[in-house]
Amino acid sequence: MKMKFDLEANDPHSNARAGCLHTAHGDIQTPIFMPVGTVATVKGVHQHELTNDIKAQIILGNTYHLYLRPGTDILEQAGGLHKFNGWDKPILTDSGGYQVFSLAHRRKIKEEGATFASHIDGSKHLFTPENVMDVQRKIGADIIMAFDECTPYPCEYKYAKRSMHMTHRWLKRCWTRFNETEPLYGYEQALFPIVQGSVYKDLRKQSAETIASYDSVGNAIGGLSVGEPHEDLYEMTDLVCSILPKEKPRYLMGVGTPANLLECIALGVDMFDCVMPTRNARHALIYTKNGKMNLKNAKWKDDFSPLDPEAPNPTSRFYTKAYVRHLFAAGELLGPQIASIHNLSFYLWLVGEARKHILAGDFLAWKNEMVPKLDQRL
Ligand code: GUN
Repeated sequence: MKMKFDLEANDPHSNARAGCLHTAHGDIQTPIFMPVGTVATVKGVHQHELTNDIKAQIILGNTYHLYLRPGTDILEQAGGLHKFNGWDKPILTDSGGYQVFSLAHRRKIKEEGATFASHIDGSKHLFTPENVMDVQRKIGADIIMAFDECTPYPCEYKYAKRSMHMTHRWLKRCWTRFNETEPLYGYEQALFPIVQGSVYKDLRKQSAETIASYDSVGNAIGGLSVGEPHEDLYEMTDLVCSILPKEKPRYLMGVGTPANLLECIALGVDMFDCVMPTRNARHALIYTKNGKMNLKNAKWKDDFSPLDPEAPNPTSRFYTKAYVRHLFAAGELLGPQIASIHNLSFYLWLVGEARKHILAGDFLAWKNEMVPKLDQRL
């Protein structure tokens, strides 16, 4: 089956949209948040919890990590990542274009690709646009990403411009290799190109126009949420969304806080991923629709109310704040597990509500009411 995006509704008062991305492993209703499952697992969360409690529709994997461990031989023997980890809904893999630059040691960027030493055992490797396509064919995600350089922040104009042009040349090579090769496991994969250009409007415009010229199933926006002020994140996202084709899904990589999600949905973004809900969960930070709470704070020690009495998932209604706080204080594994389920199901609830309000035509008013609450510290 051919992967296809149907735009279902446009919010009359903002650029928010609701749609559906049809993949061989099922439909993804947008806007959507994709839990990060870097090493073939969403840390501490079972696949049945992802499905039943969190209502995840698609999860992420990372090429960099999966290539280093367990390696493509094992993944190929398993019949691809879906078979290996037992998640039979859609998967997206990031290309390594971010992880090589943020995690690997002794990395060097050349026109050919990026050389790096593994953060696990120091072994030396080369990622090129071509072999990253081959690795992502072997992993077998439904959506795979182009190999790019995610520029750091701050980034001088000259560097950002040179890097963007190299990312565009790498994209051309990715595209060629992708079209020369076939999926290995009998279902279609789609390659999403990535807009770069740091915080420079002329570069973002040029990059978005280049990326839009490809006949891809969907497009991504990278190089944001790397330390720039929120105004830059929103300004760049707005500019890029105004150029990327309306009939294709737009994926904003690595974003963000609950408020960031709603603001960027209003600008026309359809897909998000971020480690925040799971990473912060492991540090006892809990998101709710009234703000965030740090369960390590003593004020929760005798609060015997549920994590969220109105949550759609039973885990958040069942366990109390005082109990989960105790689990963290005692260093018990169950604490981070409950917190991860809670935060992910909150993120999925939030994008699901956004979708409902887009379909009802009152998204902007709802978003403006929600955003100030989401940023509060409880
Ligand atoms: N994840 C977050 N930002 C980026 C980016 O710019 N490129 C890639 N490949 N992944 C990302």
